[in-house]
Amino acid sequence: MKVKIHTLFQYLLDTTEAAPDCVLGLSLARSPRLGAFMDALDPDLSLDWNGQDFRGLPALRDHVLAQSRLEGVCARADVLITAGAAEANYLAIRQLVQPGDHMVIERPGWPQAAVLGQAIGARIDVVDRHEAEGWRLDPEALAAAVRPDTRLIFLTNPNNPTGRLMDADELAAVAGIARRVGAWLLVDEVYAGLEWEGVRAPSIAGIYERGITTGSVSKALGLQGLRTGWLICRDPGLVMDAVILRENSSEIMNIMGEVIAEIALRPERLGPAIQAARGEGRATLDRLDAFVRATPGLAWERPQAGLIGLAHLPDGIDGDALARRLLGEPWRTFVIPGSAYGMPRHIRLGVGGGPEVRLDDGLSRLADCLSRWPG
Ligand SMILES: Cc1ncc(COP(=O)(O)O)c(C=O)c1O
Repeated sequence: MKVKIHTLFQYLLDTTEAAPDCVLGLSLARSPRLGAFMDALDPDLSLDWNGQDFRGLPALRDHVLAQSRLEGVCARADVLITAGAAEANYLAIRQLVQPGDHMVIERPGWPQAAVLGQAIGARIDVVDRHEAEGWRLDPEALAAAVRPDTRLIFLTNPNNPTGRLMDADELAAVAGIARRVGAWLLVDEVYAGLEWEGVRAPSIAGIYERGITTGSVSKALGLQGLRTGWLICRDPGLVMDAVILRENSSEIMNIMGEVIAEIALRPERLGPAIQAARGEGRATLDRLDAFVRATPGLAWERPQAGLIGLAHLPDGIDGDALARRLLGEPWRTFVIPGSAYGMPRHIRLGVGGGPEVRLDDGLSRLADCLSRWPG
């Protein structure tokens, strides 16, 4: 079946031309400029690709293992460099799931797994995360959804869009549920690195032999445009299947993405970059949190990690109506409606992007728009 458009992407397409003054939904840290990497780039680097590794630059794969704290647990051969976490998810889902296979996904969650599962013709069961429970993933609900023939469980940690974090014990419990039936367990950790409560969660590839970790330099490092991410799995067959599928789509990685990501993940650069992103992220999240708490009718579970969260709207206000109205005059402010995640009474708020997104102006405009509702 054809891959169909999802509500989230439809909204992004519909609003591409809107040129808002303020953006309240950005999920990535302030993006570095190319100049920040010039000192480490080799002008003699060949832009040919021959002689490179189909799985990605070896040094980059080593950095990926180090930043995921998987050194000594996973090998370099377990890492495949991909065009973002999005491609990593795609390769894994597409190769693992066949028509009629059973998948379990979460709601709210990243839409990609459902979109691809539906196109493949999988049977999909959804586990709901509840706001009243702080958006935690209930292991009993997950266990009830998983069947003897479940092929793949797809989760995000930290969760997109709520920022809820699963800790080591919760991940071990989830791995136990998957292991009982031999299901593959893909945990997308693209938002890892900016934890506000607790520590960074361990990667599932180190916990479960059929665990697949996906991630990228897009979010905590703000390097989304490099299109460089990874898939990590201890099963050589899964990694090879991903290499084979990629060979039949984009074939190989883009060399500039790999080279710059390798520089960015060098320990002497990664540490300070994460520290800067954490400092800025925490300060802006504090401002956003104060705003949500001070705005009548608005409520949220402050994200435990990452730069985005899901805010509950006052009674009678629909997320789509609000987002579209806020984008127009006089507010010209962008937010993603919760309907993108199957949550029509919410909006996604985010603090990424640095000063260009004009967070404080955007929040004042949101407050103004809400105060005049239905206007
Ligand atoms: C949970 C999740 N996974 C994957 C992606 C895609 O990220 P990347 O830029 O690494 O492909 C996103 C982007 O927003 C995301 O939120």
